[in-house]
Amino acid sequence: MSKITAAITGVGAYVPEYRLTNQILETMVDTNDEWITTRTGIKERRILKEEGKGTSFLAIKAAQDLIDKKGIDPKDIELVIVATATPDMKAASTAAFTATHIGAINAFSFDLEAACSSFLFGMSVASSYIESGKYKNVLLIGADKNSSFINYKDRATCIIFGDGAGAVLFEPNHEGLGLQDEILRSNGEGREFLQATYGGSSYPITADTFNEGKHYVFQEGRTVFKNAVFNMADVTERILERNNLTNDDISWLAAHQANKRIIEATASRVSLEPAKVMMNIHKYGNTTSATLPLLLHDYESQLKKGDKIIFAAFGGGFTWGSIYLKWAYNS
Ligand SMILES: CC(C)(COP(=O)(O)OP(=O)(O)OC[C@H]1O[C@@H](n2cnc3c(N)ncnc32)[C@H](O)[C@@H]1OP(=O)(O)O)[C@@H](O)C(=O)NCCC(=O)NCCS
Repeated sequence: MSKITAAITGVGAYVPEYRLTNQILETMVDTNDEWITTRTGIKERRILKEEGKGTSFLAIKAAQDLIDKKGIDPKDIELVIVATATPDMKAASTAAFTATHIGAINAFSFDLEAACSSFLFGMSVASSYIESGKYKNVLLIGADKNSSFINYKDRATCIIFGDGAGAVLFEPNHEGLGLQDEILRSNGEGREFLQATYGGSSYPITADTFNEGKHYVFQEGRTVFKNAVFNMADVTERILERNNLTNDDISWLAAHQANKRIIEATASRVSLEPAKVMMNIHKYGNTTSATLPLLLHDYESQLKKGDKIIFAAFGGGFTWGSIYLKWAYNS
């Protein structure tokens, strides 16, 4: 029997209606459209405004989009992974709530957290379950409500992040399509440069820290930028080398949408022409775990069976990596 590979067989997505444009941000903090556009490539982000709605709301919508598009019976889904850095609540699993709400009543489920690399690492986990032969339908959702921990008075972070979700289904493939190779890494020394310090187990929120806004995300942008450029480009180059791929062989680069300049630097390291670089950061900003599936959603109609896609991501922790995948279907 041929080896089982894990292929993506469907994509769904959801972004909230509300658009937080650079022009609106100009009225909130000391910034301007020209600075944001040239430094990051972002023009607007989507924000989930409704009270009481968390990451699971986004995840459910994206999963539902996929289920409707593919016409799958949610009862056939065996595992639901929600990749997220902004779970609904402490202690209660966002994935369990999401799975039940989409009708995946026969599935087990769990959250996976690796900051902006959550979805990339989730691709590795989902694929391993499929490759083991034990599971045939694994739903991987990347969802984040970043607006829940952004300080909209801090211009260093509020211009970057947005809310959104994307979902993909992994199924077994016997034609050798799907995930081919991966290089995944982490380095805990990066934690100090990107974190929300208060609100976790090390430093619970107190009235004082709350008033000082220490539960919001803090980022030392320049250091994160340098590490993102170096590490994302490095693993991308290595995965090409290891698989004897040249820039001509690659159909697409799907890189985490954190900053247009980081994506361009990664593409340039492997001499990839701009037309092969998926880009939607201008519409959504950095949606953390949702950037990669949102790219697949936006480019799905252009993807062809057999296309060679290189995924790359970098995030807090630090966490980073690259995955080489062969696309499994024509839209
Ligand atoms: C955040 C980021 C866009 C800032 O761009 P940068 O070129 O590094 O800018 P710097 O932080 O060096 O700041 C340059 C100047 O712009 C100013 N500035 C910062 N934010 C600004 C804003 N929103 N509007 C206008 N000016 C701003 C700074 O105060 C600084 O001014 P100074 O030179 O007078 O001190 C960039 O560092 C970045 O994208 N980092 C990585 C982000 C990321 O990927 N995060 C998630 C990881 S997955």
